[in-house]
Amino acid sequence: MKFFIDTANLAQIQEANDLGILDGVTTNPSLMAKEGISGKDAITQHYKTICELVDGDISAEVLGTSYAEMVEEGKALAAIHPNIVVKIPMTKDGIKAIKYFTDNGIKTNCTLVFSAGQAILAAKAGASYVSPFIGRIDDSGWNGVQLIEQIAAIYAVQGFKTEILAASIRNANHIISCAEAGAHVCTCPLDSILGLLKHPLTDIGLAKFIDDAKKLG
Ligand code: E4P
Repeated sequence: MKFFIDTANLAQIQEANDLGILDGVTTNPSLMAKEGISGKDAITQHYKTICELVDGDISAEVLGTSYAEMVEEGKALAAIHPNIVVKIPMTKDGIKAIKYFTDNGIKTNCTLVFSAGQAILAAKAGASYVSPFIGRIDDSGWNGVQLIEQIAAIYAVQGFKTEILAASIRNANHIISCAEAGAHVCTCPLDSILGLLKHPLTDIGLAKFIDDAKKLG
């Protein structure tokens, strides 16, 4: 399973990349706004910087909602760097735009996916990635990991090539469950990735080893 970091914060991207296990980055308009990035030039420069930091797929989301706007913006985003993946919302115009980019050899990430039906449409349009938002599904009282399992089963039976990118990850257990359920990628906040490191028995065991190492001279 690939690991992406879900942030536009350069320090966090660098910290995750320094671990040596990072395969890419996802951003969205809310994450960009959180970093105070605004205006076309600043957004373009921010994506360039991320692409220079991380050697992997970098999802850059379109802001427009019509087919024409998404195609125009997506072309400009894809021109920033060969590793840019154009992130497009799951709408009727979005599906048409994904098909356009599939036909033109540009990678896409279909975002805001909350059902198996939406995931089937994204795969039919040739999306490189489909992003089910599992945390937001859990927040609504449903089960996000079950959706990952369902999409993984459908894609396997149908032979779809679209990769399942589990998004809206809230904690380390989400990552483990998504790995078990067949996600190809998890895009996670830095805290959730670092959460995988933690186990109290590791801390207790290491403290004992450090203590005993002192006796070895
Ligand atoms: C996915 O690519 C999105 O950026 C993200 O995972 C959304 O997560 P949230 O529900 O924490 O906003």
